[in-house]
Amino acid sequence: MKLDQLAYIVIGSSKIEQWRDFGVKVLGTMSEDGPDGALYLKYDEWHYRLLILPDEEERLVAAGWSVRSRAAYRAALESAKAAGLEIHEGGQAERRVRMVQEFFRFVDPNGSPHEVCWGRTMSAVPFVSPVGVSRFITGDLGVGHVVLPSRGAFDECVAFYEDVMGLDYSDFLSRSVAPGKDVRAYFFHCANGRQHSLALAEVPEETGIIHFLIEVQTLDDVGRAMERAREEDAPLVRGLGRHVNDSIVSFYLQSPSGFHVEYGFGGEVMDWTDHEVRNISYGTYWGHEWQPGFAPQIPSGKRRP
Ligand SMILES: [Fe+2]
Repeated sequence: MKLDQLAYIVIGSSKIEQWRDFGVKVLGTMSEDGPDGALYLKYDEWHYRLLILPDEEERLVAAGWSVRSRAAYRAALESAKAAGLEIHEGGQAERRVRMVQEFFRFVDPNGSPHEVCWGRTMSAVPFVSPVGVSRFITGDLGVGHVVLPSRGAFDECVAFYEDVMGLDYSDFLSRSVAPGKDVRAYFFHCANGRQHSLALAEVPEETGIIHFLIEVQTLDDVGRAMERAREEDAPLVRGLGRHVNDSIVSFYLQSPSGFHVEYGFGGEVMDWTDHEVRNISYGTYWGHEWQPGFAPQIPSGKRRP
């Protein structure tokens, strides 16, 4: 497969109204009701980037990848079939709610769901953030990134991302945290300059998604989002910090579904031609301190010089 971008994220939730408030009042997106109780959160020229579907449990329904044409879609579908994947091709009702021409779904070796689509729907409504976010960084870079939990099939999943989904390593984190115990998080990109669109981490998470990233244009957009989160009682999970691999300055909130949302600015846009895949060994240069009540997912273990 040749996937162009992580185009959308679908979340199943019993907390649609909380998600609407979280999206509009904290993240700064627009919202619109969809068919059958669905909620669209829009933050650029597309009809939506986040789709929340009514569900009895809180869970990732899909990481949604897009390709640019029907021909590219047919090629992706053929390669998925050739790889022996169990494929679900979206029916009319599912295509309608996703507002795409066609999509198919499969799960990776850890059971995490992915969709590939073509023919997404633009919005004629200009994006204006209801709380004054200057701009969300999307376009060809896609929605942001998702970090998925490994459920015992880490190595198989890494191979699957490379060999079946056609993703490339961006870099990886592998570090011994105790005798006989390593932590690993691997980062992948697709056919654009976002440093990683997908990461796989050896961190358990019931909802099937550890966090997703939303990127905004300025430091002020990030600081004002921290203020809104405090005013709206959205729990702060990690304070402000800068990541090693994509250089993004970000903080983390708890979403209404329990998993986390990273909110940042200044992510590096990569030219992959000269990039050397590195073991970054630590996730964060500075900051990102875990707040009381939230246990670190990957222990920092950093030593000061
Ligand atoms: Fe992240």
